Amino acid sequence: MSTCRCEGEHLADRRFAIIGHRAKSNGKLNINDLAGSGGRMDVLVRAINSALFLSHGIRKDTHITIHMMGGEGPPRRIWFDGAKVWGLHPDERAIAGHIAKVIAEPVPARGHWVEHQPGIWHSGGDLSVTLNEWSKEGVEMVKLDAEATAFSEHYNTTIPSSIGFFLSDDQPFSDAENILLKKYTNPISLGKKWVQGHTAIGVVHHLLDSIIDQQ
Ligand SMILES: C[S@@+](CC[C@H](N)C(=O)[O-])C[C@H]1O[C@@H](n2cnc3c(N)ncnc32)[C@H](O)[C@@H]1O
Repeated sequence: MSTCRCEGEHLADRRFAIIGHRAKSNGKLNINDLAGSGGRMDVLVRAINSALFLSHGIRKDTHITIHMMGGEGPPRRIWFDGAKVWGLHPDERAIAGHIAKVIAEPVPARGHWVEHQPGIWHSGGDLSVTLNEWSKEGVEMVKLDAEATAFSEHYNTTIPSSIGFFLSDDQPFSDAENILLKKYTNPISLGKKWVQGHTAIGVVHHLLDSIIDQQ
């Protein structure tokens, strides 16, 4: 994996992947009940918000893949690409509205990405498929884990040109997920206190932005 000091340039590719263990992958989403009948879809919506939105505008170097593992039918992933998405607004109900439209569609085949609207794609598959795809794309992959070694021990003045962070929802990663993550990722902590997923994403942005700002 090549790394760059990214002098005078933006980090080329910053990614997040979040697992929604109970998030509904199919059917009708009640945007008034994202936490309950949506299977903690609220957690995924907040993660999308933190990953993509600046105070004014979208982070064009960032994308996020949400994994909807709950409900009936096969799991589905939705990929929001900050470089290409338009018509996405930061309020949570609006983001949930986009997800609702996607999950009303049939789930595409595992690993087959279908564009739903500009910058929003969906595909069948689960964590294992995303890990495999990102590995083939040469992404340096990180599992966010409060109990791991500190971020600063891994990234201080140098950051990879393509970096992807995996986080879980309100539940811990399952044993099977941890086995997969161990194979592909380095675990990194943002501090000893467990924070909510969207906060963890905000901290990652802050740390990466700070490194770039110092260059
Ligand atoms: C609400 S936390 C999950 C808490 C859950 N009880 C657990 O044990 O994983 C959501 C995700 O945010 C990330 N996270 C939260 N706090 C973190 C920290 N201090 N360092 C690194 N990652 C963190 C982790 O990836 C975690 O899976």
